Amino acid sequence: MKKNQDFTSLIPALLYAKKIAVLTGSGISAESGIPTFRGKDGLWKNFRPHELATPAAFSQNPKLVWEWYDWRRGIIADKKPNQGHKVLVEWEAHFPSFAIITQNIDGFHQKAGSRNVLELHGNIWKARCTKEGTILEICDTPLKAIPLVCPDCRALLRPHVVWFGESLDSDTLQKAFSLSSDCDLMFVIGTSAEVQPAASLPLTAVESGAKVVEINPDVTSLSSFVDFSFRGKAGEILPQINARLKQAISKRNN
Ligand code: OAD
Repeated sequence: MKKNQDFTSLIPALLYAKKIAVLTGSGISAESGIPTFRGKDGLWKNFRPHELATPAAFSQNPKLVWEWYDWRRGIIADKKPNQGHKVLVEWEAHFPSFAIITQNIDGFHQKAGSRNVLELHGNIWKARCTKEGTILEICDTPLKAIPLVCPDCRALLRPHVVWFGESLDSDTLQKAFSLSSDCDLMFVIGTSAEVQPAASLPLTAVESGAKVVEINPDVTSLSSFVDFSFRGKAGEILPQINARLKQAISKRNN
């Protein structure tokens, strides 16, 4: 099936949408200078996930795992959210119901100003006590002491992120599925849709009758299921959609 890449046919659906859900992946932060995972220079092309992003890796070598996250925190710390993140902030203020479900751990949606954000895979700026489960926000870059220990009980702290082989937080996941099954429009931005359960959210939206819009320079396994496929960068396509939406709003109001 040929996908609709025409901005003008998306605008009427967007103009009258009441409930919007957005699923984002690392591609939305690519234009900010944050590496993706599976692209040419993606993290998983240069590092082995089982050595750095599994519970076993952490129990074998917590120092190495923390050093890797410290390095990633350093990359994120001096970068800024981009035009793509900023359009989503404007949309949250405009639409009656608007939520972002992100696989990203960089915190850029919140840094840009978005408030209704569900973080499926955690947040790189948080650490969790391996004994008591307490979650702390730690913003030092670089970290002062590696591996980090809990200030209360001295047990190891771990990054508050989801690793391979771990389950997602069940409340967060339930909310994500509920948003996906109860929206008029879902935007799927900058994800290869290769990681479950996040990759099932757009399919839930399709099955529930929502229109789904994909923004990605590349074809993904979702591309054949969506209603609109915009092949391009989020930081370029989202401002173009937003400009047309604003024109349509001012036309409707006059
Ligand atoms: P991937 O690296 O798998 O996919 C990134 C997607 O972004 C690709 O489809 C690119 O084509 C697209 N992309 C690149 N630049 C873009 C741009 N400027 N605008 C829009 N799209 C762009 O990253 P994710 O799908 O986020 O999980 O990966 C999902 C999960 O896999 C991550 O959350 C992480 C990883 O393992 C965990 O660590 C648990």
